Amino acid sequence: MADAAGVAEGDLAGLSAGLDLSIADAMVENALGNLALPLGVATNFVINGREVLVPMAIEEPSVIAGASKAALAARAGGGFEAEADDSLMIGQVQLLDVTNLERAIEAVQEREADILALANARPSRIVELGGGAKRLEIRAFQQSPAGPMLVLHLLYDTLDAMGANAVNTAVEAVAPLLETITGGRANLRILSNLADRRLARARVTVPLEALARNDLRGHQVATRIVEAYALAAVDPYRAATHNKGIMNGIDAVAVATGNDWRATEAGAHAYAARGGTYTPLSRWSVSAHGLAGSLELPLAVGTVGGATKAHPAAQACLRLLGVERARDLAMVMAAVGLAQNLAALWALATEGIQRGHMALHARQMALAAGAVGAEVELVAKWLVRSGEIRAAAAEEAVREIRRNPGGNHT
Ligand code: MEV
Repeated sequence: MADAAGVAEGDLAGLSAGLDLSIADAMVENALGNLALPLGVATNFVINGREVLVPMAIEEPSVIAGASKAALAARAGGGFEAEADDSLMIGQVQLLDVTNLERAIEAVQEREADILALANARPSRIVELGGGAKRLEIRAFQQSPAGPMLVLHLLYDTLDAMGANAVNTAVEAVAPLLETITGGRANLRILSNLADRRLARARVTVPLEALARNDLRGHQVATRIVEAYALAAVDPYRAATHNKGIMNGIDAVAVATGNDWRATEAGAHAYAARGGTYTPLSRWSVSAHGLAGSLELPLAVGTVGGATKAHPAAQACLRLLGVERARDLAMVMAAVGLAQNLAALWALATEGIQRGHMALHARQMALAAGAVGAEVELVAKWLVRSGEIRAAAAEEAVREIRRNPGGNHT
C-alpha cells in the first residue's frame, strides 16, 4: 500500500495501531475502551486523472468490493471528475423579540463590516491563514411557533477544517452585538449542517461495454440503471435507499479519516429535500459515450483538527489518500459516493444484490457461529454452496468441519 500510495511504510503504521486508551479518554467522557471497525481499501479509483487508494471504515460487507468494482468500470472511461466549493460554512444566530423585522434587517446590513470584524477578532489560525467570516445574510420568518423572528447567517470560510468549533465560536461572539443592533434577543447560535455553500460534485461516464454482465449487453444494463434511477427521481421511498447507498461510501471514508459522519449525513439528506420533496442526490442518463452519472451534495469535511488529527489511523488514511486539503478530500468522497451508487444500481438492475452480498455475509455468519482461522472461509463456502445462509446452517457447518477436519469441505 505504501509503495502504491508513494509514501513511507512508517507513514501508514497508524492503520493497524488502533487507538490508545489515553487518547480515547481525552476524546470523550467516561471512556471505557474502543470499538473497532474493519478498515479496508477500495481500489481502481482514478479521480481527476490521479490514481487514488481509498480507505473505508465500515461494518457492512460488499461496500468496499462494490466501490472497487464500479471504479474499475469507470476507469475504462477515464475515471471520475470531481470538484468542490470553498469551505464556506453557515453559522446561524436566531433573534427573537425584534419589534420591526424590516428595520432590524437594514440595521444589520449597515453594520455588516463591524459584525464581520468582531467575528474575526479572536486569535484564530483559520483567520490568520485567510479564512474566517466573509459575508452575512439575514432571513426573516414572519411566523413561527415562537412568533416572528430573524435568523442571521454568518458565512465563514473554514479552509481545511470541518470548522464546527470555529463557526460556533464566531456566532457566539457576534450575538451580543446583534442584540444591540436589532433590539432583539439572541437564542440559538450554532452552525447549520445544511452546508449548501460547501458542495462537492463528481461526474463519470462509463463505457457501455464495461457494464455488460452475464447475458445482458452493456446498453441493456445502462438502460436498466437509468430506469432504477427514475424510480428514485419520482419516489422518496426509493430515493431514501438510493441515497443510503451513496452515503455507504461517503460515510466509510468519513469514518476512516476521522470526520463527523453525522454531519455529512444531515447535510446530504437536508440537501436531498431542499426543494420540498426528498430527491436522489445523483442522476443517471445514457449518452452516446456511455452511462453518464453525476452527484452533488454538501460535504463539510476537514483534513485538520478534531479526530482527523488526534486519531493515528485517520492520519494514516489521509496519507494513503494523498490529500492535504479539505476540498480534495471532499472530491474523493463525492467520487466514492457516485461509485457506490453505480455499484448498487448495477447489481440491483441485473442479478440483484443478494447473491454477491450473501457470499460476503456468509463470512460474518461463519464468525458468529464460532468459526476461527481457516474455518471461516470453509464455512462461508459451505453456506453459499448449500444456498442456506442461515445461523443454524453455519453452526452445523462448524460442527461438521470440526468432526471431520481432514475432509474435503470445499
Ligand atoms: C445497502 O446498504 C445499500 C443499497 O440498498 C443501496 C440501493 O438500494 O441503492 C443496496
